[in-house]
Amino acid sequence: MTGEPRIGDVFGELVRDALAVHTGVGPRPLAGGRLPRPVIEIIERDDGLINGAPAAPYLDGPQDWQPHDHRAVDRVRGATLDVGVGAGRIALVLQERGVPVTGLDISPGALQVCRRRGVRDLVRATVDEHAESGRRYDTFLLLGNNLGLIEGRERAPVFLAALAAMARPGAQVIAHGTDPYGTRDPVHTGYHELNRRRGRLGGQLRLRLRYRELGTPWFDYLVCSVDELAELVRGTAWRLADVDDRDAPYYLATLRLAG
Ligand SMILES: C[S@@+](CC[C@H](N)C(=O)[O-])C[C@H]1O[C@@H](n2cnc3c(N)ncnc32)[C@H](O)[C@@H]1O
Repeated sequence: MTGEPRIGDVFGELVRDALAVHTGVGPRPLAGGRLPRPVIEIIERDDGLINGAPAAPYLDGPQDWQPHDHRAVDRVRGATLDVGVGAGRIALVLQERGVPVTGLDISPGALQVCRRRGVRDLVRATVDEHAESGRRYDTFLLLGNNLGLIEGRERAPVFLAALAAMARPGAQVIAHGTDPYGTRDPVHTGYHELNRRRGRLGGQLRLRLRYRELGTPWFDYLVCSVDELAELVRGTAWRLADVDDRDAPYYLATLRLAG
């Protein structure tokens, strides 16, 4: 026993339990074998900060969405790749609207939950792996803060190139991000400073997720300002075409194929 978590499909286990709580079907976490326990995603940052977030919103229907989720979905057109589809809350609604949507995720458990909820077209892969498939899309969605998947200065051009390789002419990326720099909380401003000192973007989070006895390996997840995003997009196949920051500090960035 080391106290270290066993590496596993944290997100998959989390949304599987959240679905069991939601539907009342299947095993779910109980206190004392009887009382329902809330399903909480534990997010550890590499400075020791720990946060918890309820998993239930991953299953939310449109009535419970944030306004920017609605505005993102309203911008969708054509064949759509939902990158990091999660429990399928967005893909399900697109599918109901008749949009041809593919849900992509690296979590087998999340894909299983999507399937059980009725999402039809699912792929277990990273964007780089899926780019090899020859499938092409008009819209790429990075919702639920999944702009974070661009990670930082090194990964962003590679990630965006993989999307460009799957892009039809006129394609767009619709990404949900968060500007991290409005805070005065010294725990966060200190972390941003630490990151800059070690050559990273201020909001380049180094995280691992935990649920019950499981953990993920440490990974980078980017929360960046619009200016930083513009800098990361420069020189790629994409241009930053629009920013909707009506729900600041959240924003929706739309990228379009350049040229
Ligand atoms: C914060 S959740 C967002 C889920 C969903 N987009 C939503 O809005 O509810 C992040 C999702 O991205 C997936 N993910 C993480 N890294 C990924 C990667 N490299 N490629 C594809 N999906 C990834 C996770 O498994 C998880 O389902």
